[in-house]
Amino acid sequence: MTQTQKYSSTAITLHWLIALMIAVAFLVGLYVADLELSPWKLKVLTWHKWTGVTIFLLVLFRILWRLSHRPPEMPAGMSDLMKKLAHLTHLAIYLLMVIVPILGWLHSSAAGVSVVYFNLITLPDLVGKDKALSHLFGELHENGAWALVGLVGLHVAAALKHQLVDKDNLLARMRW
Ligand code: HEM
Ligand code: HEM
Repeated sequence: MTQTQKYSSTAITLHWLIALMIAVAFLVGLYVADLELSPWKLKVLTWHKWTGVTIFLLVLFRILWRLSHRPPEMPAGMSDLMKKLAHLTHLAIYLLMVIVPILGWLHSSAAGVSVVYFNLITLPDLVGKDKALSHLFGELHENGAWALVGLVGLHVAAALKHQLVDKDNLLARMRW
């Protein structure tokens, strides 16, 4: 396989690192939301926020990288409709990877808790303390996270279909 048929190794590293971190953030988010208020809950929530902010920063870098590096062409065997659907799904995943962390940050700000990244950098509060708004952002953060994971499920099913049914070795494009 020549270089032009693959993503760059930076894009591949970012893809798998971010995928792993989203899986962790999602599961930890579900776990922490169910805990009663306690020092343990606040500790785990802090880890969740640090992971989420790191994902956010990596995704911003990934988007800049993507815009400045041409991805490989889609497999020749794909119909125009399928190519469009794949592009749309990727775009929606990128959008949600930006929006979901911002909604988490908004949720924290509206709850009156500033996000202190690794106990070092205090992020600006995006909105003032407001209980109703905090509840709304919490709901949107939760729904956004489920939408992201739902689209990733579709994305993984499509990748497996390419690999096992179409046998076009798509996964090799995302392997170092
Ligand atoms: C949270 C998990 C994941 C996220 C957020 C994610 C996101 C993305 C995005 C946004 C792209 C488009 C890359 C671009 O053109 O800029 C992509 C490509 C790709 N992903 Fe994922 N992905 C995830 C998990 C997976 C998994 C588990 C697999 C394997 C089963 C996979 C296989 C692929 C492949 C093969 C491509 C390249 C498609 C192509 O050649 O056009 N991804 N992924
Ligand atoms: C892609 C990154 C992220 C994912 C996938 C994610 C996912 C989740 C999930 C699934 C929940 C549970 C929602 C529920 O069931 O009520 C949650 C809760 C939460 N997340 Fe995130 N999150 C991310 C990033 C962030 C960030 C960056 C912040 C803040 C800076 C944040 C702050 C919160 C807060 C405050 C809660 C509420 C916990 C509670 O109800 O006690 N999240 N997140």
